[in-house]
Amino acid sequence: MVSEMTTHASLLWAVLLIPPLTETFKPLLSPGGGSLTHRDITQRAIFRKTGQVCRAMATAQGQNFTLATDDKLTAYTLQRACFSGGSSFLSALAFQTVVTKMYLSNAAVDVLLALSAPHHFDDETFVEGQEVVAQASAAVKAAVKHGSFISARISLGAACHTLQDFYSHSNWIEMGNRVPFSQLIRPDMPLDNLAGPDRATCRNCTGGNCTNNILPDVLQEKILTSGYFSLFSSAKPAGKCSHGGSFDRTSGQDPVGGINKDDTSESHGHLHLQAAEVAINATMELLEDIRLATSDKDFLRLVGMSQSSLLSFVIDTTGSMADDIAEAKRVSFSVIDLKRGTQEEPSEYILVAFNDPGFGPLIRTSDADVFKQEINKLNAAGGGDIPEMCLSGLLLALTAAPPSSDIFVFTDAPAKDAELKTTVTALIESTKSKVTFMLTGTSSSARRRRSGSPVSRALSDADAQLYRDLAQASGGQAIEVSKSSLPNATVVIEDTSTSALVTLLQAVRTPVRAENFSFLLDETVSNVTVYITGSSSPAFTLNSPTGESQNHGVPEGPLGTIQRVGNLQRVQLNAHNRTGLWDITINSTAKFTVKVTGQSSINFLFNFVEAFGGAHGDFSLKQSRPSIGKNATLLMSVTGSDSLKVTELALVPVSGSGVVNGTVEAIGGGDFLVTIEELPAGDFTVHLKGETSGVSRSSPTLFQRQSSTQLRASSVAVTASVNSTLEPGATITVPFIVETNTTAGSYIIRARNDRGFSSSSPSSLTLEVGGRAEGTVTLTAPSDTLSGTDVTLTIEAEAPGAIDSNYVVVSFVVASKVTDFTRPVCQIVGITANCPQDCSQATWQLSASLSDGNGTGIASVTVQEGNGTLSTNSSGVGITAALYSASCCSQAVELVMVDNVGNAAICSASIRNPSSPMTAQPMTTTANATANATATPVSTTSSAQICSNLSLWLWVIVVLPLLYPQA
Ligand SMILES: *[C@@H]1O[C@H](CO)[C@@H](O)[C@H](O)[C@H]1NC(C)=O
Ligand SMILES: *[C@@H]1O[C@H](CO)[C@@H](O)[C@H](O)[C@H]1NC(C)=O
Ligand SMILES: *[C@@H]1O[C@H](CO)[C@@H](O)[C@H](O)[C@H]1NC(C)=O
Ligand SMILES: *[C@@H]1O[C@H](CO)[C@@H](O)[C@H](O)[C@H]1NC(C)=O
Repeated sequence: MVSEMTTHASLLWAVLLIPPLTETFKPLLSPGGGSLTHRDITQRAIFRKTGQVCRAMATAQGQNFTLATDDKLTAYTLQRACFSGGSSFLSALAFQTVVTKMYLSNAAVDVLLALSAPHHFDDETFVEGQEVVAQASAAVKAAVKHGSFISARISLGAACHTLQDFYSHSNWIEMGNRVPFSQLIRPDMPLDNLAGPDRATCRNCTGGNCTNNILPDVLQEKILTSGYFSLFSSAKPAGKCSHGGSFDRTSGQDPVGGINKDDTSESHGHLHLQAAEVAINATMELLEDIRLATSDKDFLRLVGMSQSSLLSFVIDTTGSMADDIAEAKRVSFSVIDLKRGTQEEPSEYILVAFNDPGFGPLIRTSDADVFKQEINKLNAAGGGDIPEMCLSGLLLALTAAPPSSDIFVFTDAPAKDAELKTTVTALIESTKSKVTFMLTGTSSSARRRRSGSPVSRALSDADAQLYRDLAQASGGQAIEVSKSSLPNATVVIEDTSTSALVTLLQAVRTPVRAENFSFLLDETVSNVTVYITGSSSPAFTLNSPTGESQNHGVPEGPLGTIQRVGNLQRVQLNAHNRTGLWDITINSTAKFTVKVTGQSSINFLFNFVEAFGGAHGDFSLKQSRPSIGKNATLLMSVTGSDSLKVTELALVPVSGSGVVNGTVEAIGGGDFLVTIEELPAGDFTVHLKGETSGVSRSSPTLFQRQSSTQLRASSVAVTASVNSTLEPGATITVPFIVETNTTAGSYIIRARNDRGFSSSSPSSLTLEVGGRAEGTVTLTAPSDTLSGTDVTLTIEAEAPGAIDSNYVVVSFVVASKVTDFTRPVCQIVGITANCPQDCSQATWQLSASLSDGNGTGIASVTVQEGNGTLSTNSSGVGITAALYSASCCSQAVELVMVDNVGNAAICSASIRNPSSPMTAQPMTTTANATANATATPVSTTSSAQICSNLSLWLWVIVVLPLLYPQA
C-alpha cells in the first residue's frame, strides 16, 4: 500500500469513492415525463449556436442559409447546412463526437464534484459559482487560443454544467424570469439582491406540495436564493430553502421540502421545462461569449464542425530516411494541391519529426502553406545507433490530433522507446485514431529490393511486430515496402485524405484454411477500396452480388483495379452496379489483415459509459477499458440520415468467433443506449447494422458499419479524477484507484504525461484478490508554461506477469487564474456620413477610441458585421484607436474588441435610412438591458453630417453587450 497518503488526497479519494448521487438536472438520461437532461440542454445549445454562427458566416459570404435553428436540429442537418454544396459525402461524425465529449464532460461534474456546492450553485454560493464559471470560461478561451481544443471542450462542458444548474437550483425562475441571468457570465458585474445569511427564504411545503414554499417577500423583492443540499447532514441555516429530493437530508428540516427543478417530478418540477429552456439560452450566451473572444472559425473548430479530415505525419529523420522524407513531401503536397479550395481540403495538418535522442516538437497548423514549409525543412541526418524515438513522436501526434484521426508514421528503424507501447495503445483506444506505418526497413520489404541495392538498416521481424501490433490495434495498417516502391504505397494516404470515410469490414486472421468474408455495400456508399496486407501476399477472389468475380492475379477486371506493392494489395472497386452483399475469399499461409472502406455520410460513434448510483441511475464516461465479466453499457450515436433505425449492435472478437449482441434502446436524437450482458474475452470491434429510409427508394436501405479500433476488456480497473485546475508553476495532485477481481500481487504503475512535466507516482501498488489500492500522481507545470496548454496524463496498471493491464486517460488545461474581468469599451469619436441617394457612390467613416480600463489591454479588434475596412492604432497598452470606412450601402458595423485574457465586447454603430423619415427620431441610443452597467456615454455626433435633403437620419447605437441579439 502507498504510505504517502496526504489528508488532501484522502479527501479527494472520498469524493472518488462516494457513489455519486444525481442531484442536478439529470446528467444524460431523462427519467421520463418529458424532462430535459444536461445532455439535452448542452446539445441543443451547441446546435443552435453553431447554426447561428454558420448562418452569420454564410450571410457574410453572400450565401443563403436556410436552416431553422430549432430543437429539430441534428448534427447531420447542421453539417449539411454549414457545408452545403460541393461533396455529396458529409460526415457529421466529428461534430457529433465533440458534442458528445462536451456533454459527457458536463455530466462528469456530478461524479467528480458531486459535493462541491459552488459547482452546482447550491447553498447560496452565487459568488463562488460565478467564479467557477468565470475561471472555466477563461481557461476555455486560453486553450482555444493555444489550439488546445480537446481540453477546451472538457473545461467548457464542465462550465456549462454549473451554469445550467443555476436555473434548476435557484429561485430565478420562481421570480418570473424567463431570460438568462447574464451577470453569471459577467464577473465584472456585481451580483445584486443576494439573500443575506440571515434572510429566511422558504417555508414548509404543505402536505408534500412545494409549489408555494418560497416566501412571498423574497419573490416580491426579487431576492436571489438557492437550495441547501447535503447527503450527510440535515443542518442548514435557519429559514433557508433546501434542494429537495430523497438524497437531500436538509430537506427534512424546517422549512421542509425543496425548490429544485431537476426534472418534472422534483419539488419544483412544475417549472422544470421553463428552467431547462432558460438554461439552454444561458448556455448559448456562454458559447456566444467564447465565440466573440475567439473567432467564428475557432468556434466551429471548438465544436468540431469542420468539413474534412486532417493530414498527420510522424516522420523518422535519421540518416537513411532521405527517400522516405522526399516521398512524404511529395504525397502531402499532392494531397494539398489536389484538394485545395475543395470540400475535401484537409482542415488541419500535424507534423512530428523524430530522431535519436530527439523528437518533436509537434507542429500543428490549419495553414497548408505553413505545413509545406515545415515539411520542406525536414532533413535526413544523424541518428547514431539504429533504434529511434518513434513511439515518443507518435504519442505527441496522438494527443494532439482530433479523435478518430488517421496518423501516418514513416520509419525504417526499430523503436528505441518500445516501453511506450502500452501508453500508445491506451491513447489509440481512447482517441480511436488509426495509425498506419510506412516501413521501409523490414526483411519482407528488403526481399523485394532490386538486387544489389544496399540494406542500410533492417527492422527485424520482432521489431516490426511492435509496429504491426499498434497498426492492428488501431485499425490502421503496417505497410512494408522497399524505399524505391514507397511511392506506390502512399496511395493509401491519398485514400484516407477524403471526407466521410467509413469502415465496412476489417478483420485480422492467422489462417488455418481459406476464409470467406462478406461485406454489404448500401446505396450511400461510394469509392470502395479493399486492402489486404500480409507478408505472403495472400491469394484472394472477390465476388460481387451479381455473381461476377475477380481473382488477385487480374490487375484490371470486371470488379476493380488491383495494385500490389510490398505486403499490400489494394483493390479499388469500379464505380457501378455495386450495392448488395459482396464477399471475398482469402487463402493465405500467414497472418493477414483485410479491410474495406468507402465514403458514406452514415457512420456511428460510441463510448463506454459506467453506471453510477442514485435514484434514477445514470451514466458517466468510462476513460479506461471496461470490466471483464461484468455487463457494460455503450452510449452510441448514429449520424448521416434523418431517419435511422439500428437493428443490431454486436461486439465481434478479432478472432471471429464468440460474437456478443447488445440490447439497443433509442434515447432520442439519433442516440442509443446499448447494454451488453458480458463482454467478449480478448480484442473485439463493434459492428452496427441498421436501416435508413432517407435514400432514393421507398423500401428502407440496410447498412452495416464497424469500428476500426480494437477494444478489450480488463479485470483490472483504474479510475482517476482531476477536479482542480493546474496553474503555471503549480503542482496538481491526481488521486487514482486500482482494483482487481482476479490476480493478487504487485501491480506495475506507469504515469506519463505528454508535456514532459515533472511528475511523481508510485512505481507499484500491491493488491489483494478483489482488493483495491490507492495512489496519487503529482504533476508540476513549469512556471513558463503558457496559459492554455493542455496536458494528457495516462496512468497504467499492469497485473503481475503482464497478463492484463488497464489505464485511465485524463486531459486537462494549464490555465493561469484570471483576475482581469474588465471588458473593453469603445467611445465613438466621430461619424462622417455624407451619403447620397445612390449609396454606392459614397463612403462613410467611423472613428472610435478604445480602452480596456485597468485591464490587460485590447489584443484584437475585428469586424463582425459590415464589409468596410478597419485600421487600428496601438499604443504601449494595446489597441487604442479604430478607424472604419465603408460604402454607404453597408450601413451598420459591429466591431469585436477582445482583451489579452479573452474579455470581449462589441462596439456597434450604424447610419440608417429609416423607412418612414417623418416619424424617425433624430438620435437614439440604446444599451442592451443586460449590460447597462458598462454602457459608455453616447459620444459626440458633431462631425456627423446629416443629408437632410434625402431625409437620411443618422443613428448612433453604442452597445457594449455581451450578447448582441441575433437576427
Ligand atoms: C438564395 O435564395 C434565393 C431564393 O431562394 C435565390 O434566388 C438565390 O439565387 C440564392 N442565392 C444563392 C447564393 O444561393
Ligand atoms: C414545519 O414542519 C416541521 C416538520 O413537520 C414542523 O416541526 C414545524 O413546526 C413546521 N414549521 C412551521 C412554521 O409550521
Ligand atoms: C399544489 O398547490 C397548488 C396551489 O398552492 C395547486 O395549484 C396544485 O394543484 C397543488 N399540486 C398538487 C399536486 O396537489
Ligand atoms: C431563447 O432564445 C430564443 C432566441 O434565441 C427565443 O426565441 C426563446 O424564446 C428563448 N427562450 C427562453 C425561454 O427565453
